[in-house]
Amino acid sequence: MRVKRSESLLILLEDDRFVFHNYLRQKSFLANQTALEIVRQLNAWTEVDSLFASFPDYSQGSIVKAIGQLADLGAVLIEESEAAAGDAAFSKEWLWGPFAAAYHFSTRVGEFMTEEEGGERLRELVKVIPSPPLYQTNDNAETAIPLPVRQNFGEPFKTMARRRTNRVLRDAPISVHQVAECLLFSMAITAVIEDEDIVDLPLKMTPSGGARNPYEAYVCARRVDGLAPGVYHYSAMQQSLQRTGADTLPAFGDLLAGQHWSSDAAALIFLVANFERPMWKYHDGTAYRVTAIEAGHIAQNIMLVATSHDLVANPTGAMDFKRVEETLGVGGPTQAVLYCLILGVPGEAAAQRPA
Ligand SMILES: Cc1cc2nc3c(=O)[nH]c(=O)nc-3n(C[C@H](O)[C@H](O)[C@H](O)COP(=O)(O)O)c2cc1C
Repeated sequence: MRVKRSESLLILLEDDRFVFHNYLRQKSFLANQTALEIVRQLNAWTEVDSLFASFPDYSQGSIVKAIGQLADLGAVLIEESEAAAGDAAFSKEWLWGPFAAAYHFSTRVGEFMTEEEGGERLRELVKVIPSPPLYQTNDNAETAIPLPVRQNFGEPFKTMARRRTNRVLRDAPISVHQVAECLLFSMAITAVIEDEDIVDLPLKMTPSGGARNPYEAYVCARRVDGLAPGVYHYSAMQQSLQRTGADTLPAFGDLLAGQHWSSDAAALIFLVANFERPMWKYHDGTAYRVTAIEAGHIAQNIMLVATSHDLVANPTGAMDFKRVEETLGVGGPTQAVLYCLILGVPGEAAAQRPA
């Protein structure tokens, strides 16, 4: 039997002990010097028998057992196993190095609190540590320059000023035209820079680093007049929706980490990053930051279009990523859902005062 160490392994120190962390498979464990030495020696496919000579103080049985444990814990791969195939796909396709990978994969599995638990935690926390200020003021009256503010704004500024998150949703339908406009003004390809030597670059109403346009949009329609309930992929070039993914829609709250207020939404728009598009051009983890930033541009336009229709598009980054990707029919080392807009008909908004 041949074994090899995983390519998605990060080894950290905790006090005087090693912590092995497989960020692809989300497995972490404390290890000793011997485990470290075994893993160090397994940088290529290796027959287990050939390791015995390197560890004369240990019985062959204990080395075999240690390798089995290291395989269970995600540090070592067994040739032709499912884990080995996943690891090979990752090391072939992921070009942004271990740090961006560790960040990306490790932040897909957070445990989310309920709203009540989160509120309670903050009420306890503020008793011990006050929150840092949430804005900075210019207090020097001699150097601070008050800016003139125009009062009579037209569009699009009125819509921009009206945009608000509102988690009180009515269980009411929206129209396919409203969904179409949300997608048109955020995702549609509206022009192309021709480049015969390399590749034509699509342009949208939202900017994209290097015009690599990593995002695809998917719609989970629950109550959209003109669309049967289901999962759809939006073609940015053709401006069409096509059924894809799961046949039946899970409750939105189950997709969105227990945010059950979203279950009355008419539709969800998921932004799915295709990292291979920027990776092809940029072989550096900085492009991961750029890709994440781009989701904000797209989402803002969706929110503004929704607002202009007197709808609401609430942003969320909290979701059961695996379940969402299964529902949409996407996934793999370089494809990931990053952001979601919860689209619906708003109810009575939470109270707020002007600043
Ligand atoms: C990247 C991002 C992620 C967010 N994630 C959540 C979320 O998971 N759940 C939620 O209820 N609101 C989420 N929000 C909404 C914020 O709570 C909201 O924008 C904030 O309270 C300010 O309110 P406003 O959008 O009305 O200006 C998110 C906002 C952003 C920008």
